[in-house]
Amino acid sequence: MGSGSGFSAVEVIADKRDCRGLSREQIGWVVDAYTSGEVADEQMSALAMAILLNGMDAAETAHWTQAMIDSGEVLDFGDVGRPLVDKHSTGGVGDKITLPLAPLVAACGAAVPQLSGRGLGHTGGTLDKLESIPGWRAALSTDEIRAQLADVGAVICATTPTLAPADRRLYALRDVTGTVESVPLIASSIMSKKLAEGTGGLVLDVKVGSGAFMKTAARAGELADAMTAIGAAHGLPTTALLTDMSRPLGRCVGNALEVAESVEVLRGHGPADVAGLTVALAREMLALAGVTGTDPAEVLASGAAHPFWERMIAAQGGDPDAPLPVAAHVETVTADRSGVFAGADALAVGTAAWRLGAGRARKEDPVQAGAGVRMLAVPGDEVRPGTPLLELHTDTPERFPDAHRALAGAALLVTADPPAQRPLVLDARRPG
Ligand code: URA
Repeated sequence: MGSGSGFSAVEVIADKRDCRGLSREQIGWVVDAYTSGEVADEQMSALAMAILLNGMDAAETAHWTQAMIDSGEVLDFGDVGRPLVDKHSTGGVGDKITLPLAPLVAACGAAVPQLSGRGLGHTGGTLDKLESIPGWRAALSTDEIRAQLADVGAVICATTPTLAPADRRLYALRDVTGTVESVPLIASSIMSKKLAEGTGGLVLDVKVGSGAFMKTAARAGELADAMTAIGAAHGLPTTALLTDMSRPLGRCVGNALEVAESVEVLRGHGPADVAGLTVALAREMLALAGVTGTDPAEVLASGAAHPFWERMIAAQGGDPDAPLPVAAHVETVTADRSGVFAGADALAVGTAAWRLGAGRARKEDPVQAGAGVRMLAVPGDEVRPGTPLLELHTDTPERFPDAHRALAGAALLVTADPPAQRPLVLDARRPG
């Protein structure tokens, strides 16, 4: 029994093992008791596995989310004088969209409190990208976040240890017990952090494809539905877009390379897919925030969001005019046959960038600011043997062979016919 509470971890585990639904009280107790150490790691591991195998319904998932929110602090930025709205991406290759998106939405009149994380594996982390800007600082106090939201309208900073601490502990446990892949656990993990951050609306970019967490549209749709249902249960207007991640976004993958590409987009240039997805997400965010009469496509194309980027970076100690770090060594990968370049596989490019030093295998690993991949050919280009397709960047040239290996086989597609146009936004789930 749990110290006079009337609950027992073994009974909660057995209920889920035998497919009985868990009550709000059971869930509130077990999450709280796990956070305080009363429920042991091995008991929570067994419960996470039972949840992975037998699922949780919408009510259980909403209660689980609430219990994780209740484990920590809930921020309130209701006094910043603008409607608050945020975006979360489930992570992709070359997914730098937060960088142009936050200043764009601020330029249109809403405020974006983006509390973000570092990258792990083949997908990059927003903070890792911004940390390639000389002087930029990820850690802000709640008062600094509030002041920057009121002044600039956009903050991208590190999440605080006080937000949903139960999630941090549980996520680390799931990582080593083969229980990350449970949709209700993923959905409640993501949504508890966003609900605790105090945003007034949320747009989810649920990636689908080889470079994404969810490889199929069916799985991504399941996750999108679970997250929008949690939003609805907690009164948070939530929209989900399902977007393509079978190809990298833009032409650059890697921390400083992606910052440079984002700045191009903010100046009204840059790759069409990055600008297009930034605008699509901005439209959804502005709709949730109730901001009308401003066209984010026009604001982005005019370069009017760029000063908001400069102010956002400077407010966190960064020098937006400083040269970005560049890698010491560059190698070019060329086509080995004639045909039409049909694009590169997102997972292969993400893995190559990771191997070059842009990403980390363990939380404590350092990342190289200048490492990554720059695409030279664009889908539809005619190529011959020897035509440059992409560049590999690293400070540590002994990493080149691993990156070449990641790109071997069918990773770089050269076909007889021009590739079909792929829509970036595959589906949408909007509230009500
Ligand atoms: N990202 C999260 O924040 N939590 C998960 O469980 C999976 C991905």
